[in-house]
Amino acid sequence: MPREAMPGAAGRQGARWYNPAMPFVTLEGLEGCGKSTQARRLAERLGPSAVVTKEPGGTAIGASVREILLSHASRGLVAPAESLLYFADRAQHVAEVIRPALAAGKLVVSDRYVESSLAYQGHGRGLDREVLRQVAHLATGGLRPDLIVLLELPIEEGLLRVGRRGGHDRMESEVREFHERVRAGYAEMAAGEPQLWARVSGEGTEDAVAERLWSVLESRGLLVGPVGSGSRDAGR
Ligand SMILES: Nc1ncnc2c1ncn2[C@@H]1O[C@H](COP(=O)(O)OP(=O)(O)O)[C@@H](O)[C@H]1O
Ligand SMILES: [Mg+2]
Repeated sequence: MPREAMPGAAGRQGARWYNPAMPFVTLEGLEGCGKSTQARRLAERLGPSAVVTKEPGGTAIGASVREILLSHASRGLVAPAESLLYFADRAQHVAEVIRPALAAGKLVVSDRYVESSLAYQGHGRGLDREVLRQVAHLATGGLRPDLIVLLELPIEEGLLRVGRRGGHDRMESEVREFHERVRAGYAEMAAGEPQLWARVSGEGTEDAVAERLWSVLESRGLLVGPVGSGSRDAGR
């Protein structure tokens, strides 16, 4: 089936179609930078023409894997085991959710994807990034995002926000140097493929970030139709 712009309910209201050449978008960034919040808001705004999903835990099997990964009981998890669990979750997610949605002509937005593994297990824990890329290929069949949005927020601010969310999970409890390596890893990947990545500041209110993110999606050509043709209609 051709990936043509499919106006869903949002589209029928004269609103927003996505660019069928860019059907797969991922949100990346450190703990507390606002990925899940913004994913939820994107889902509301994009309507049924989009599938908004997450890793780990985007499938029933993945939800079990997520419990192992984020539980404090998994303190003894060694880095390769951790990494393979993330990729097990991802393989299931790609097969069960992402590929079927793309095949059905949907825009897919995933809260985290392969680049999280490269940033956290590669840059953060020091696993061989070339090997991780090969495992990524095994898990995803080589499916790469068309656009990766990096939400950027100072480490402390993210952890503060997470603290307010209540209780730090295993990854959030990592030392500051770990988060700093992850942040630097993301920055390096984004600098290496600037056409693939869009950096968006996660500072300010949820509304401010949502507006910023939306304009970046527009300017990167992800949203077409009434938006791309210059209409300022809010269209929600
Ligand atoms: N712009 C914002 N300003 C203040 N708090 C925010 C903002 N965006 C999200 N939050 C809150 O910060 C916490 C972390 O946000 P979340 O979206 O879960 O981050 P992530 O998924 O990137 O870890 C949540 O409690 C959320 O409600
Ligand atoms: Mg989240």
